Amino acid sequence: MCGIVGYIGKEKSLPFLINGLKALEYRGYDSAGIAIFSHDKVQVKRKAGQVKVLENALKNDTDLIGHLGIGHTRWATHGMPNETNAHPHNDCMGRIFVVHNGIIENYKELKEYLQHRGHIFHSDTDTEVVPHLIEDFLRSNGDFNVALFDALKMIRGAYAFAIIDVKNPDTLYAVSFSSPLVIGVGADENFLASDPSALVGKSKNVIYIKDGEIAEITRSKIDIINLEQKKTPPEIVRLEWNLEQAQKGNYPHFMLKEIFEGPKIVFSALQGRLKSGKNLVKLGGLEQVNEKLKEAKRLIILACGTSYHAGLVGEYLFEEIAKLPTEVHFASEFRYREEPFEEGTVVIAISQSGETADTLAAIRKTKKHGLLTLGIVNTVGSTIARETDAGVYNHAGPEIGVASTKAFISQLTMLVLMAVYMSESNGHQLHHALLQELEKIPEKIKAILDKASEIEMLSEKYKDCENFLFLGRRYNYPVAFEGALKLKEISYIHAEGYGAGEMKHGPIAMISEKFPTMAIVPQNSVSEKMFSNLEEIKARKGPIFAIATEGDKEIVSLANDIFFVPKTIESLEPLLTIVPLQLFAYYVGTKRGFDVDKPRNLAKSVTVE
Ligand code: M6R
Repeated sequence: MCGIVGYIGKEKSLPFLINGLKALEYRGYDSAGIAIFSHDKVQVKRKAGQVKVLENALKNDTDLIGHLGIGHTRWATHGMPNETNAHPHNDCMGRIFVVHNGIIENYKELKEYLQHRGHIFHSDTDTEVVPHLIEDFLRSNGDFNVALFDALKMIRGAYAFAIIDVKNPDTLYAVSFSSPLVIGVGADENFLASDPSALVGKSKNVIYIKDGEIAEITRSKIDIINLEQKKTPPEIVRLEWNLEQAQKGNYPHFMLKEIFEGPKIVFSALQGRLKSGKNLVKLGGLEQVNEKLKEAKRLIILACGTSYHAGLVGEYLFEEIAKLPTEVHFASEFRYREEPFEEGTVVIAISQSGETADTLAAIRKTKKHGLLTLGIVNTVGSTIARETDAGVYNHAGPEIGVASTKAFISQLTMLVLMAVYMSESNGHQLHHALLQELEKIPEKIKAILDKASEIEMLSEKYKDCENFLFLGRRYNYPVAFEGALKLKEISYIHAEGYGAGEMKHGPIAMISEKFPTMAIVPQNSVSEKMFSNLEEIKARKGPIFAIATEGDKEIVSLANDIFFVPKTIESLEPLLTIVPLQLFAYYVGTKRGFDVDKPRNLAKSVTVE
């Protein structure tokens, strides 16, 4: 949440700051601001609203020519989303300028303390205490680094800061604690961002600042100072994301582009990992923990939002394929559980961003109990990727749309692979049909995308509904949750996902002519039961939109509208059935006139609890 950028180097800083903020806008878009060291002083510009408002305001500014700058796009936590609360914030003397991501939990007591000592505040933010606190320590000790360390000792919470000190104009300071910051290493220039998507096209070599570390960045040097105030060698990670992946291309929105990347995403997740001729899955990232995995008796999957829904599909996969009892938890609730952990329990964290605060807190808790933790993560080098004992990357490239689409598809693919990998029969004939079919999934997704215009037409019919029920069973039960989440996130229509068997225990009360049901009902082991549920809906005059298997005749008499998907093996169905639901959410959202890439109140990377 919130995006931070910073630049120091041979070029003028403004272009990178603005482009970087645009790339990070999916993290928050309430207001934006920059501070640039120009003509021996720091100039600050802030605006309420999206980055383009700030960009327009700076169009004719010839003053902002400095080579050191910081910027911020905000997702408001403390204080209204207006210009006064927009970052950067500064101290009384106008020496220290700070942009911040995260929450300073003890800001009220710090603010009172500082006000008592004569500091004047202008905003309602928690952030503003930071420059004043550093200023306060500078009064008793003139050294900036010492004052910064002393200030950090007093701050509680999760934070990432980028800081300019007017008296040290050759240095960009960065601090991270439970909130990510990554440095892009350049030649005679260095970049800073809260996630690597802002660095694409600028640098492929990145350094993640670890918890409690301070980075002192000049145009030619990067010093990392650890909690013990000692210099520590920077760890450089190679970033393989490219510019094309981070741009919309010919698509009107990132969300649509990312849905259409589905076939490619599955293909790249399988590459080098699936040896279908040998019925074998090889996951290099897990090899180092193979011995421990053989001892696994039980799995716990931890995730939030869309990744949690992928985890729910994983529960069925691991139980059916790997024969391992599996449970899935919302990471955000897991911290409150007093569950006794048995030996042989393996934890799997699923996260697109690799930075979700709740997921991170949940895996830290299991690590304290000595459990083996694995990650399924998209963002290379992210905190969850680093903190889990072993893991696999999705290789889906940057996901920019706030609503997660391609990451879900890649998570499902990784879960199938992982379930086979962890089964005792990996490499045996038993998995032949499943793995052969998995290889056909990209072309089957493509066949669905080729019919996107059918969904577009149907979305016109349903776009003014106020409610929607999504129903599925077994493997498609989590798909019902995910379809409903997509529709509410993007179109602000009230949508509920249910296991179809649960309908008669309550939700059926809502069914009426004005309350449509999206039924995920491919031909499989539970379709007869699904048909019975649909009869119950029809008897109550509820409109039905069905996602069904090509060639299914029975559904025709039951549903008002049908979208057909190709036949596949039941455990792989979610990889196909989710695609029309993602498209449906997209088209309904755009037809209702919303900015689907930046839905209201949301942020892509949820780095606060
Ligand atoms: O980055 P993560 O996968 O850990 O994020 C988890 C959720 O915050 C995320 O999936 C969220 O629900 C998205 N808005 C879904 O579209």
